[in-house]
Amino acid sequence: RDFPEAYELCKKFDISDANMEEIVQRLTKEIKMGLAKDTHPRAVVKCFITYVQDLPTGKERGKYLALDLGGTNFRVLLVTLRSETEIDIESKSYVISHTLMEGPGKNLFDFIAECLSSFCKDYHIEKENLPLGFTFSFPLKQVGINKGIMITWTKGFKCDGVVGKNVVELLQDAINRRGDLKVRIVAILNDTTGTLMSCAFGNRNCRIGLIVGTGSNACYVEKTSNTEMLEGYQTSNKPNMIVNCELGAFGDNGVLDFIRTPYDNAVDKQSINPKRQTLEKCISGMYLGELVRHVVVELMGKGLLFKGLDSQAIHEKWRFQTSYISDIESDPEGSYRQAAMIMDQMGIRTHVEKDLACLRYICQTVSTRSAKLTSCVLACLIQKMNTKDCSVGIDGGVYRYHPHYHNLLVENMNKLLKGSAKFELIVSEDGSGRGAALIAAVSV
Ligand code: BG6
Ligand code: GLC
Repeated sequence: RDFPEAYELCKKFDISDANMEEIVQRLTKEIKMGLAKDTHPRAVVKCFITYVQDLPTGKERGKYLALDLGGTNFRVLLVTLRSETEIDIESKSYVISHTLMEGPGKNLFDFIAECLSSFCKDYHIEKENLPLGFTFSFPLKQVGINKGIMITWTKGFKCDGVVGKNVVELLQDAINRRGDLKVRIVAILNDTTGTLMSCAFGNRNCRIGLIVGTGSNACYVEKTSNTEMLEGYQTSNKPNMIVNCELGAFGDNGVLDFIRTPYDNAVDKQSINPKRQTLEKCISGMYLGELVRHVVVELMGKGLLFKGLDSQAIHEKWRFQTSYISDIESDPEGSYRQAAMIMDQMGIRTHVEKDLACLRYICQTVSTRSAKLTSCVLACLIQKMNTKDCSVGIDGGVYRYHPHYHNLLVENMNKLLKGSAKFELIVSEDGSGRGAALIAAVSV
């Protein structure tokens, strides 16, 4: 290696095979705690039941509205399920400003209602009283298919007056305050659930919905007999229940400390939610770029990288975007074109290949750890379901845009599962549109 010091430092991010197995075991334990009624209150992996018990049959039809809050974009969608293969989706994205993300909840919900209203007016459907599925991708204790109590904000949101409240009611109130719109909020769902449903529409073997995007989380199909939080679960005549694990919180009780690094601590400290979402902070798009930036800054400080160069941008928190990691790792072997361009944008002008190779190595280290942890999650859920063959529907910017993430998942899942189960990883299209519409369809 040309850069032994960086190599030493990056070793801290390495997760051995034995450690991956240990993580699977620890996660299994946490999921069981989340599911059981007596341990649920103190469990960190909450395993919320979603009230979605039916996977789509492919026969669902109709016109639905959907809202998608919690990913990179806030979107309003109009979905028409015409046939199994013919689905029309019209959608519009809106920017949620930082002021809204950290301001009073009322302003956020008023803004959502305003966007919904202007969208419906554009399509002349404001009086149609259409069913609406609300993809709300935050921890929510659901008490019904269209009732959910906000537990805590994640991913940079922190709006007052929402935690502890029924989010469907907050949205309905905002719609009512306007008085210019008639819709029926028939379902509230997590993006992982939408992703699973959307994938299951064309792939009946889909049993897991995974997001590796701004945040990171998964849901899976559990036996209803194991979901003690559902009133009457023992007598429920439906065999299955989708469970939203809220996996991002795995490790909040310290069980992942054995793989965490000083850089994880630094990123955690500067985040809006310190000591929360431990796993998410090692995996998801909101944090990976920042982890890389911390490593780069440390090496620069020691004079081991980009020697003689410096910039304000590289010292700016959150400035190094996770999409840069995907770009840098997309450069073909021996080429550093995108890496040089990105560093240029960061105010560090260099073509020194040794340095750019080191930067790529740091990116690989951070993204490989993310993929290894995601593999642990998937292996754990597959083993928990005791399935021999299943598909996983996946969405999110990190999975979609990173050039090797998919292959890293396959490689590490194979290591963990050792041939005990077959699996297929499938990009799920439009969970918050198609998926939300399907949930609305199966719940009305
Ligand atoms: C989208 C889904 O494509 O992916 C959203 O429709 C989801 O519901 C999102 O939240 C997650 O990815 P990202 O990268 O936008 O956070
Ligand atoms: C965060 C949210 C979770 C969501 C995930 C992916 O972890 O808490 O609800 O599914 O991000 O968007």
